[in-house]
Amino acid sequence: MNEKEDFVVLSESYINELKKWCDDLYGNIISEHPFASEFEEKIIRFKTELDKAESVSESELYEQANQLYDEFRSFIEGEDDRSLAVPIGQHKLPPLPYRYNALEPYISEEIMRLHHLKHHQSYVDGLNKAEIEMEKARRTGDFSLIKHWEREAAFNGAGHYLHTIFWNVMNPKGGGEPKGELKEAIKNSFGSFQAFKKHFSEAAKAVEGGGWAILVWSPRSRRLEILQAEKHQNLSQWDVIPLLVLDVWEHAYYLQYKNDRQKYIDNFWKIVNWPEVEQRFQTAKKVIWKPY
Ligand SMILES: [Fe+2]
Repeated sequence: MNEKEDFVVLSESYINELKKWCDDLYGNIISEHPFASEFEEKIIRFKTELDKAESVSESELYEQANQLYDEFRSFIEGEDDRSLAVPIGQHKLPPLPYRYNALEPYISEEIMRLHHLKHHQSYVDGLNKAEIEMEKARRTGDFSLIKHWEREAAFNGAGHYLHTIFWNVMNPKGGGEPKGELKEAIKNSFGSFQAFKKHFSEAAKAVEGGGWAILVWSPRSRRLEILQAEKHQNLSQWDVIPLLVLDVWEHAYYLQYKNDRQKYIDNFWKIVNWPEVEQRFQTAKKVIWKPY
């Protein structure tokens, strides 16, 4: 047997071993780790590569398998962190990902200190307070102030989540243009990066009073869009995903219920399609940001 044949025979058995290893790892992921979908895809990709792997050296395959395994290990180690929910009323101010003077001269240290330590902290405190009060209402059955606390939860919750995003979408080494898939998506959604930038800037300029300009991904239209938020919210919390919704505009019930909105709401519970809500929940759960 010459050197080349020897190499091919060894590779084939090695490839079969690796395929079995992939199957074991895949089975392990499916049964134990509901958040590991990105690794499922990587393993499937690696297995596809193994099918056309005669020309690849063992050491190269070994390295690829090792890398996959290392990534999987660090994913498992981080999983506790990932599945950790923020307990009711225990949101925390996230640390600024750079020094307070890092964005100078574009944003001064004084603004950053005030903005992060005072304003953002007050949204965190306000959200915690609202969550605790709403928890109390559920416990006591006294919902007389629910409108107030929902407003507080939305205002402060949106303030907290949007600022948490805001600090991270800036960086002293930032600027320039996006790359890769985002670049393509911007081009497909807005025509060009320049058109996007102009639209985003004009939307920001035109926000009435205080507020935000926001680039969003719409899973429904599968496109990017630019939106404005007045104040932080208008009774929503940005950075959340709707699961169950109830339309209480008069057009949804008035013809039948007149002004008896309560009866309409009572009857709504008889027709809720829970499997659909469960499905939305399962899909939404896959989006995981670091908890704060
Ligand atoms: Fe702010």
